[in-house]
Amino acid sequence: MTHPPDHNQPSVKSHWNGNLEDPAATRRLGVRLAAAVEPGMRLYFRGELGSGKSTLIRGLLRGLGTQEKVKSPSYTLVELYVISRLNLYHFDFYRFLDEREFADAGLADYFRGKSVCLVEWPERAGSALPQPDLELTLTYSGAGRAVTAQAHTPAGERCIAACKSA
Ligand SMILES: Nc1ncnc2c1ncn2[C@@H]1O[C@H](COP(=O)(O)OP(=O)(O)OP(=O)(O)O)[C@@H](O)[C@H]1O
Ligand SMILES: [Mg+2]
Repeated sequence: MTHPPDHNQPSVKSHWNGNLEDPAATRRLGVRLAAAVEPGMRLYFRGELGSGKSTLIRGLLRGLGTQEKVKSPSYTLVELYVISRLNLYHFDFYRFLDEREFADAGLADYFRGKSVCLVEWPERAGSALPQPDLELTLTYSGAGRAVTAQAHTPAGERCIAACKSA
């Protein structure tokens, strides 16, 4: 007897795991991701302190061609990059103590337009934050890092394909 396909299971292409042996490998993954970034996309970066989220975002912004210094937005909450056709906002919500702070900070409009939103510590903004196209989770693995990417939309799946490309 054959079983019907289970549509509750994510498709194979919606998920990817990788190993990042050193910071350069993290930056290279960012460069690969840059090739798949489209206007309006939301990419969320999870992982504990120092797991490599900013390093990955730095690689992505460099991959898109920015020459400017990529600052950590941990105090400013958000940094803007305008790179050729794209507006990118880099957020860091580490300092939020609860999800009301996201609403109080008046940031929801950033997530509605054609801008690309790159978010560190999305969990600190709670359920007020809209679903991402792609979620990247970094974990410590020996001296390096492991990464898991989960796509939630077709645009996110194109990012997964870019992650896989050598
Ligand atoms: N694959 C890797 N292997 C080893 N070290 C790495 C790797 N990727 C990044 N790092 C290093 O980890 C350190 C912390 O990186 P980074 O600042 O990107 O982390 P973060 O997740 O943004 O931290 P925070 O939560 O404080 O924002 C840096 O010194 C960086 O060079
Ligand atoms: Mg960081």
